[in-house]
Amino acid sequence: MQSPKAIILSAHGAKMPAIGYGTMELPHRPAELVAAAIACGYRHIDTARKYGTEERVGEGIRASGIARGELFVTTKVTEENAREADFLRSTETSLKALGLDYVDLLLIHWPQPKVPFAETLGALAKAKRSMLTRHIGVSNFTLAMLDEAVRLCPEPLVTNQIEYHAYLPQDRMIAALKRHGMILTAYCPVARGELLNDPVVDEIAKVHGRSPAQIALRWLVQQPMVAAVPRSLDETHIADNLNVFDFSLSGAEMGRLSALGQRKLRIADPPERAPKWDTEEVKTVV
Ligand SMILES: NC(=O)c1ccc[n+]([C@@H]2O[C@H](COP(=O)([O-])OP(=O)(O)OC[C@H]3O[C@@H](n4cnc5c(N)ncnc54)[C@H](OP(=O)(O)O)[C@@H]3O)[C@@H](O)[C@H]2O)c1
Repeated sequence: MQSPKAIILSAHGAKMPAIGYGTMELPHRPAELVAAAIACGYRHIDTARKYGTEERVGEGIRASGIARGELFVTTKVTEENAREADFLRSTETSLKALGLDYVDLLLIHWPQPKVPFAETLGALAKAKRSMLTRHIGVSNFTLAMLDEAVRLCPEPLVTNQIEYHAYLPQDRMIAALKRHGMILTAYCPVARGELLNDPVVDEIAKVHGRSPAQIALRWLVQQPMVAAVPRSLDETHIADNLNVFDFSLSGAEMGRLSALGQRKLRIADPPERAPKWDTEEVKTVV
């Protein structure tokens, strides 16, 4: 079960478990993996309409036998559905696919520059007011977009879900989110495996008798108001990734891991939908 020390982050009334199970690509046994994640203690599941996994996530939730109120389920609306009517239709479709009456968190998946922000944010707030979701937020928003979204949205935003790991610093975004009382939800938190061969991560892992993934994730969740949604198809890894709340990294270790950010490695950068990022990063072939 989830450690009693597991961190729960609070923002504008939302209570988000700091580690969630990412479901972007679950090619084999998706529902079984979701149920296994819940059985080993995950209470936060991250999906999206775009991933095509909502049906299987719903199946996994039902198979787990967990009470709905114990889970924190996030889904996202794609940028193709940024107009109000499409946005609300997409949200209803997600709920139907998941077999849920509401999600805990609904996100705008990527910014859509062709539709006025106020319209999409209005639809997002409407989804909350219609009780299709308990809380709302954004994903892949830049600093300027975040400030604009907070200004325009009639309901509080609880998170910006963005790529964040020890190879990609997000200092300015963390400061902006702090100003708005919001959580940073880190996707690609182990840099899709790239971080797991790093000699510094490996050295710190050996000191603590932990896996490199646990060190990469601990570095994230030890920072205030940072959550992470690692994905894995391996049940041992799934359990490992949640088991990061019973040890801490020293200040010096946190600093050594932060210094890896010089690499500025960005993984998720789809040219058809990514905004012009605030950071100058090196592209990768992962
Ligand atoms: N909002 C967005 O635009 C956006 C974009 C990308 C991702 N996301 C979300 O973030 C989630 C995670 O991102 P991601 O899947 O791209 O990257 P990730 O979680 O950083 O990396 C997944 C990879 O790391 C490996 N891994 C995970 N835990 C491990 C462990 N303990 N030991 C060894 N290897 C491990 C997995 O392999 P194994 O299967 O072998 O463990 C898998 O190949 C997604 O599923 C999705 O929910 C959101």
